[in-house]
Amino acid sequence: MSTSPSSRRGAATYAHRGSSGMAPENTAAAFELAIAEDADYIETDVQLSADGEPVIIHDVTLARTTDARLAFPDRAPWNVHDFTVAELKKLDAGAWYDGDFTGQHILTLDELLDLLGDRVGLNLELKSPAVNPGLAQAVVARLRRRRDWISPDVRPQPLIVGSFDEQALRDFHTQLPDVPVSLITYDVPAPRKLADLDGWIFSVNPDIHRLRRDDAARVIEAGMALVPWTVNSRELWRWCLDLGVGGMITDYPSALKTMLHDHLDG
Ligand code: G3P
Ligand code: CA
Repeated sequence: MSTSPSSRRGAATYAHRGSSGMAPENTAAAFELAIAEDADYIETDVQLSADGEPVIIHDVTLARTTDARLAFPDRAPWNVHDFTVAELKKLDAGAWYDGDFTGQHILTLDELLDLLGDRVGLNLELKSPAVNPGLAQAVVARLRRRRDWISPDVRPQPLIVGSFDEQALRDFHTQLPDVPVSLITYDVPAPRKLADLDGWIFSVNPDIHRLRRDDAARVIEAGMALVPWTVNSRELWRWCLDLGVGGMITDYPSALKTMLHDHLDG
């Protein structure tokens, strides 16, 4: 399965929640910065609003990355899926990070796709399907209305859909089999499990802090791309290159790109 721009430029750079080391995660500011920094993919998280709209946010509650406590003081514990899109749009999603980012808002999936256009790839994580029932189906329905995003021959930049939840990923893959899918894990699956993934999983995304060299080799030998998260130091970037990763998910795409260019030049 040919998907990654990594074949052109070594390991691909995935901007984790956008350029989230330098801007509030999963906002237009973080995504625009990652594009300006020439990331190959935006990695981001999608959940469902109370009225069934796919929305871009990582946590299952609004408490950490918005002003929901202030705006809706009687709505604890501020679960994302208890708020309509109209309510989510009233929240500020930037000021918690820095006052300079006041005015950033939670995006819908449609708004994200409009914002990215064909400027960058997208690694979209189906986040917490257990608390977002129907998430895979809702994302499929949205993407079916955006044919350019699910037609590999038309779209210059790839879309990859990932999840920790294998069943949600299978549900998605059954309906849109041409869209590459990534299984996000803490540990690389055991050999028999890894064999089950062969043929339908494009990449395996393990936790970099639990990754062992022999497990990395098993993924690559099985023919899947190895794309660890969240890789934020030069030491780990270099180790990943030594392992032969297909990409790295990082909060600092600009610094990773610089290291990769130096590595190719050196
Ligand atoms: O893509 C893998 C990574 O994003 C998973 O961790 O918690 O940042 O969504 P998390
Ligand atoms: Ca994620």
